[in-house]
Amino acid sequence: MNYPFWEIPHIGSGWVIGMIAIFHVMISQFAVGGGLYLPIAERKAYKEGREDWLAQLVDHSKFFLILTGVFGTVSGVGIWFAIGLTHPEATSTLIHNFVFGWAIEWVFFMVELTTAAVYYYTWNRIDPKLHLKVGWVYAGASVATLVIINGILAFMLTPGGTWLAVAGTGAEASKFWNAFFNPTYWPSLLMRAGVCTSLAGIWALITSSRIDGEEQPDLKASLVKWSVKWLVPSFVATPFLLVWYLWMVPDTQRALLSLGIDTIGSGTFSQVTRIALIIVLTSATIIGVAYFLAYRTPLEFTLGHAVAVLLLALVATGSGEYAREMLRKPFVIGNHMYSNGVRVSYVPKLNETGYLANSQWVWNGATTNYSRGEAIYRGECGSCHTMNGYRAMKHLMAGRDRANIQNFVTMLHEYKADSPYRKFMPPMVGTKQDVIDLTDYLNAHVNPGGDKVTTARR
Ligand code: HEC
Repeated sequence: MNYPFWEIPHIGSGWVIGMIAIFHVMISQFAVGGGLYLPIAERKAYKEGREDWLAQLVDHSKFFLILTGVFGTVSGVGIWFAIGLTHPEATSTLIHNFVFGWAIEWVFFMVELTTAAVYYYTWNRIDPKLHLKVGWVYAGASVATLVIINGILAFMLTPGGTWLAVAGTGAEASKFWNAFFNPTYWPSLLMRAGVCTSLAGIWALITSSRIDGEEQPDLKASLVKWSVKWLVPSFVATPFLLVWYLWMVPDTQRALLSLGIDTIGSGTFSQVTRIALIIVLTSATIIGVAYFLAYRTPLEFTLGHAVAVLLLALVATGSGEYAREMLRKPFVIGNHMYSNGVRVSYVPKLNETGYLANSQWVWNGATTNYSRGEAIYRGECGSCHTMNGYRAMKHLMAGRDRANIQNFVTMLHEYKADSPYRKFMPPMVGTKQDVIDLTDYLNAHVNPGGDKVTTARR
């Protein structure tokens, strides 16, 4: 552990990332999809001579500018804040490996933000042809941001054999392109592109639902119907893309999705199944609402309906991101780094010399104000578990006495090939003494005042 541990009581630090990320994804993918929606709609309006569409697009582009330029950017910085504190080791790897990727990404962000503002402020002030060009520049830059960030996001799930072969040698950056165009790059890009166009339609339903249908029935009907069409491509293509995507994920990681995880009762498998069901149900409901309420009766489509669709999309997006997170367990970077920041290749060394002996922050003898056991718990388990809240240790360990807890920790330590826990938990690393210290700490919380600590604390 080369960094301090960021403790978030009850929900755990993972959910801090989760909440910011879901909010961010809803907006940033709109920034990409909406970037295509605006010039395509503008071009259509010019071609068909629809002044009313143009007036409405001015409003929509203002909404777009504020939402993406303020909330999208701030939440994007928020993600860096959260991942930097929660996964400092992995964030460092991403920065080192993709330094030019990030630099290019930020150049496109600058172009994006600038053109979004120029686009809105030059409506009716410059030649329409030029204005449309500004819209296309925005669209190009925003698609480019997706093309780049997708490489880095997909890398975390499937870094690919070529990069893994040099991981830890210092030559990682030489395999930049292999890491970037990793096994899930293309299916992931197409899936995200689909989500982007859907979100463009969904957010456009928000603004077009507010058009007064009695005053401008034709405008409202045509825009609502046209926006619904933006939902279609991704709903048709996603099932196929999903199969392709899962196909590219290594067996070891897919294991969590496969049947046979009955070892943990109401635990992980049913969680993943439930998530999958939620995605299917919310998506089906979105299509239903969009077709029956928006497409069939556009004039009666209200802001309330549009917000309902948006909330459903939020649930579907959140579930999708959560499923991806579960799929990635026990790694933060597939087969390279476990979720708690331990590199796979360091495990033997840590087992030999001890976990805390290799931790620069937490343990420097007797001066820290918590025990060795707590330090190990925080570093090795705390990135996925909390003591009392989300995935609570007290709940998961309830009913075990000290010997039983030690057996469990020992089993995690041995990490045998057939251990069911390998599907979602990293090994417990460290020496025999580390196992005992962690056991003592867990026991003291699971059985307060009960089973006595049997080993002296060092
Ligand atoms: C990569 C994330 C991750 C890390 C790190 C992690 N766990 Fe877990 N653990 C899980 C998940 C996921 C479950 C299943 C959760 C559920 O059933 O709600 C789980 C379940 C458990 C269970 C219940 C097992 C059962 O059969 O009921 C125990 C006990 C446990 N973990 C202990 C630990 C200990 C001790 C550590 C640290 C050495 C640790 N975990 C580290 C993800 C992790």
